[in-house]
Amino acid sequence: MAHNFEKIKISPIALGHWRLPEWKLSARELLDLTEKCIDIGVDTIDSADIYGDYSCEQLFGKALALKPLVRSKIKLVTKCGIRLLSKKFPDVFIKHYEYSYRHIVNSVEQSLRNFGTDYIDLLLLHRPSPLLNPAEVAMAFSHLRQSGKVLHFGISNFQPLQIDILQSYLDVPLVVNQVEISPLKPNCIHNGTLDYMMAKRIIPMAWSPLAGGKLLNPVSNTERRVFQSLQQAGQMLKLQPEQVAISWLITHPSGIIPVIGTGNFQRIKMAIEASTVTLEHQHWFSIYRAILGRDVD
Ligand SMILES: NC(=O)c1ccc[n+]([C@@H]2O[C@H](COP(=O)([O-])OP(=O)(O)OC[C@H]3O[C@@H](n4cnc5c(N)ncnc54)[C@H](OP(=O)(O)O)[C@@H]3O)[C@@H](O)[C@H]2O)c1
Repeated sequence: MAHNFEKIKISPIALGHWRLPEWKLSARELLDLTEKCIDIGVDTIDSADIYGDYSCEQLFGKALALKPLVRSKIKLVTKCGIRLLSKKFPDVFIKHYEYSYRHIVNSVEQSLRNFGTDYIDLLLLHRPSPLLNPAEVAMAFSHLRQSGKVLHFGISNFQPLQIDILQSYLDVPLVVNQVEISPLKPNCIHNGTLDYMMAKRIIPMAWSPLAGGKLLNPVSNTERRVFQSLQQAGQMLKLQPEQVAISWLITHPSGIIPVIGTGNFQRIKMAIEASTVTLEHQHWFSIYRAILGRDVD
């Protein structure tokens, strides 16, 4: 594995663009939001080729085009590999994954055109595929790295063994695995995924850190119990429940980067504030207890 790479610097909170079309922002408003985020230290934008039926990258590209200088102030993360049913791709007749050399390179080149930039800071393979051929991915990564089109590489939703297999073919390190983690989706914490990533120094990015908003609108018994634990800790710590959820994630020693999905600036601000607060053990375990529904053994 090559070790001569400059380390990627991702902000403690990343802003996800999956729900961007729902925010109903003009290009000017999106640019303003982006600049306000940069000012408070949220400079990492998480997107994907497929977001918004293949429209989100371009929406952001239009915002960046209004002030090209902003590009150098952000870290652009995007993904490839999922092929959706879409009017834009009439030849695709079933949702599937594709990691051929051609598809990876074409997808990145399209992302570059969409964003109006000549480099992606971090490219993630969106989901593991039973047909992923690691030797072919290695060729694509090598080309993208050497041509300067992608600076860093990672994966998303990969299991430890899948990471090992791919990494063994690469001459670039996989620096990030983006996985679902929240107090309502804690599996990565106890199924060995985060332990593995710590061992390999792979940064975990947590998608849907507020469980897509479900954390704040509890319905089931478990959801209510977890929400109550966040409220109780929040009262003691003078934090909002969603802030406690963020602090709970960043307190884990693996260095989790929550990827939040709100376009509401006040909520983004609350998240970055929460990212500076590590929870005392007993507060952390009070939430873990609510997640487990029992005391630890
Ligand atoms: N790699 C993958 O496979 C994968 C999969 C899914 C997502 N992602 C990435 O992860 C990002 C975040 O995912 P997400 O959007 O599900 O994250 P999230 O932050 O867990 O959820 C965002 C949702 O929660 C709502 N919300 C936030 N704060 C709230 C509050 N205090 N009260 C009530 N509702 C609240 C937001 O509504 P408002 O907009 O009204 O604030 C928004 O609808 C995505 O944008 C994408 O970049 C990656």
